[in-house]
Amino acid sequence: MDHAEGHSELGLRGRTAGVSVTAVLLRSLLAAVLGASATLAVADGKLRIALLHKGSFLDFWDDMHAGARATAAELGVELLFDGPPYSDNAPAQIKLVNRAVESGIDALLLVPTDRAALEEPVKKAVARGVKVVIVDSELNGSSYSAFVGTDNVAAGRVAAQKLASLLEGQGKLAMIRLIQGSGSTEARARGFRSEIERHPKLRLVEDALGGALEGAAFRVTKEVLGRHPDLAGIFCVNESTTKGALLALRDARRKGVRFVGFDSNPELLEGVRSKEIDALLVQDPAAMGAHAVRLAVDAISGKPSPRQLHTGIKLMTQENLTRPEAKAAPAPGTIEASKRHD
Ligand code: BDR
Repeated sequence: MDHAEGHSELGLRGRTAGVSVTAVLLRSLLAAVLGASATLAVADGKLRIALLHKGSFLDFWDDMHAGARATAAELGVELLFDGPPYSDNAPAQIKLVNRAVESGIDALLLVPTDRAALEEPVKKAVARGVKVVIVDSELNGSSYSAFVGTDNVAAGRVAAQKLASLLEGQGKLAMIRLIQGSGSTEARARGFRSEIERHPKLRLVEDALGGALEGAAFRVTKEVLGRHPDLAGIFCVNESTTKGALLALRDARRKGVRFVGFDSNPELLEGVRSKEIDALLVQDPAAMGAHAVRLAVDAISGKPSPRQLHTGIKLMTQENLTRPEAKAAPAPGTIEASKRHD
């Protein structure tokens, strides 16, 4: 059995069993009679909101869930949390979206695995009266109510500025991307490339797809290092590619390659402390989750709210990790989340 199927069935089927069949049938009947705009709290009066991430095994999604859970508790809404095990499995995520809508939800907070493949399932959810907030990773089209996440193009530009500064504007660079279709990481890659092109003595000699898991990113980075003994700098677009590249640099015993990565977890922060990683662009997934719940509740109640909300980025370096008083300042050029969005 497909793990994703098994994992999701356990989650949502159990949840559906928890919501009386009557409530679900009533919701469907009223939605049919009153039109797709009818949204109904289930029998216990709580709105039901589903947060669907795009890949397990990363601290990033746990942090996002924690932020969403806190706001859901504050607002008294029911929060479901699920997602496919791997960020390259759009079909599994589409099944989860459809199952969540069928189970009777008032809003969907979605981190799209693929910005094109999830467009149609989101349109169908909206047509059924479900409010949709896109979180973290961009989606094609405009059927959803709002986007909340990092300004990913700007963040990619900031990464390039940092690497250019570390290399004093010259040298051969490699970029390790995640997978095609990933809105967030592909936007970072676009921002990175556009900024690098402004430096005539910096050459992007490798633009490789690292794949959804750190093992694949390890292998791809090893091959890149093998092709370029004189590589001067490397940029990775997220937690798993950064971890894979860190392991590859260690395995190849390559010193002196300047390294800017994305996201953080204990191993990556240790890599900064040990000076193997020069800087990490650290996002604020907890803020994304919290704002997404609030935006969804506003959309359900018809309260005007921003169509796009950018959460902050911090540039973590050895300096601001080891000197507690030097808090990681927001990276230049990105937008801090407004404290509240109303
Ligand atoms: C990564 O996927 C992106 O969508 C998130 O922003 C994060 O950088 C998960 O590792």
